[in-house]
Amino acid sequence: MKEITQKIIALTVNGRAYEIPVGDGRTDMPESETLAHTLRDRLELTGLKIGCDQGACGCCTVIMDGRAVTSCMTLTMDCDGADITTIEGLADRATGELDGLQQAFLDNCGYQCGFCIPGVIMTAKALLNENPEPTEEEVREALAGNYCRCGTHYTAVESIMAYVDQNRKKREEQV
Ligand code: FES
Ligand code: FES
Repeated sequence: MKEITQKIIALTVNGRAYEIPVGDGRTDMPESETLAHTLRDRLELTGLKIGCDQGACGCCTVIMDGRAVTSCMTLTMDCDGADITTIEGLADRATGELDGLQQAFLDNCGYQCGFCIPGVIMTAKALLNENPEPTEEEVREALAGNYCRCGTHYTAVESIMAYVDQNRKKREEQV
C-alpha cells in the first residue's frame, strides 16, 4: 500500500525554524493561505499589518530572501525553504535594542498611528541592505507601494534619510 506523506512547509522566520503542515484548513494550513495570515495567525507575529489584503497598500511587507514582498499576495505554499524577516526580527534578539532604522523613526517622529510603519520600515530595510546610501528620490521610489492614511510620508522619508546620514557619518569617522 502506498504511504501517504503529508506536505510540510519549512520556513525560517527571524532566525527561527518552523514547520507548517499543509492540510484541510482546520488545524493544518490550507493551500490557499497567504504568508500574511500564516505569520500573524499561526506564528503570532502580528507586527505586520493587513490593510487591503490585495497587494495595494504595503502594510504587510516583510523581507523574504533579501527582497521586500507583500505577504498578503504570497502563498505560504510557495515559500518552502524561505528565509523571512518581519518587523519583530529587527531588534537585537539578546538585548531587545531597536534596530537603528526603527530608532530613527522614533527620534524623528516618523509616524502617527503607526499602522503602516512596519511595512514602510521593512521596505526601507530591504532597500538599505542593497543600497546603504540611497538618495531621497530612491527612497521615495522604493516606498511608492506603501500607503499611509495618516499622510506621514514626509516624516517617514525624513526618518529614513536621517538614518542614512547618521550611518554615512559613522562610516566617515571610521576612515
Ligand atoms: S495588506 Fe498586503 S498590500 Fe495591503
Ligand atoms: S502612520 Fe497611520 S497609516 Fe501611516
